[in-house]
Amino acid sequence: MDRVDCNPVLLERTYAQFPLVNRIVSGWRHVYVTLIRPALPRNRSGTILDIGCGGGDITRMLLRWARADGFDVKVLGIDPDARANIFAVRAAANAGIPAEHLEFRRALSSELVASGERFDIVISNHVLHHLGPVEFPEVLSDTESLTGILAIHSDIRRRRSALLLFGLATLPLAGSSFIRRDGLTSIRRSYTPDELRRKVRPGWHVLAPGLYRVIALWRPGAG
Ligand SMILES: C[S@@+](CC[C@H](N)C(=O)[O-])C[C@H]1O[C@@H](n2cnc3c(N)ncnc32)[C@H](O)[C@@H]1O
Repeated sequence: MDRVDCNPVLLERTYAQFPLVNRIVSGWRHVYVTLIRPALPRNRSGTILDIGCGGGDITRMLLRWARADGFDVKVLGIDPDARANIFAVRAAANAGIPAEHLEFRRALSSELVASGERFDIVISNHVLHHLGPVEFPEVLSDTESLTGILAIHSDIRRRRSALLLFGLATLPLAGSSFIRRDGLTSIRRSYTPDELRRKVRPGWHVLAPGLYRVIALWRPGAG
């Protein structure tokens, strides 16, 4: 799906199937309840940034949960891929989400750093394993510059049983989108907790919630 010349119908279906897959495998409700909700400011408006937001389903979910909990929060999703941005903008409009609560931009984290933007919470989902050896430390360094309270980069944990289970669970989707093929490639490319610990910049912590997730977490000044 990263190829510019990939089949647009399959790509559209891939974005459309992300919410289902993310809901089953990515554990964001738990991350929201245990890490994000306690960190969001209650006495002023808050901001959340989702880096590499793709079709924006996690971006929309975080907004919905935070507002349901009474937070006055604004969420921004960025992705350098124009097709992801178009899908995310359209999905938000179809869901009737007001633009003052949710925005999607075609951008890299480095562009937000260059324009001096800051957010209370910075997150990403399934982005770390996409990043090459140069991009990885750059995105973490950008995240440090952009984060006021807490940063969470969550990803798949590489393990053999993840490949097996994901392969079996997504058999019904085979051929209808890029979910199965790209998902299996992503699991192969992803990190074990120890690999991620060796890769993150100083000051970052690596968590390994459940059997199939890794999280790189950073709090300004926490060391
Ligand atoms: C597997 S998708 C995940 C999308 C979304 N976060 C989700 O979980 O459904 C990875 C996304 O990361 C984006 N991406 C890749 N490199 C990036 C970078 N350096 N900065 C920001 N986003 C990037 C890609 O364009 C792609 O949309």
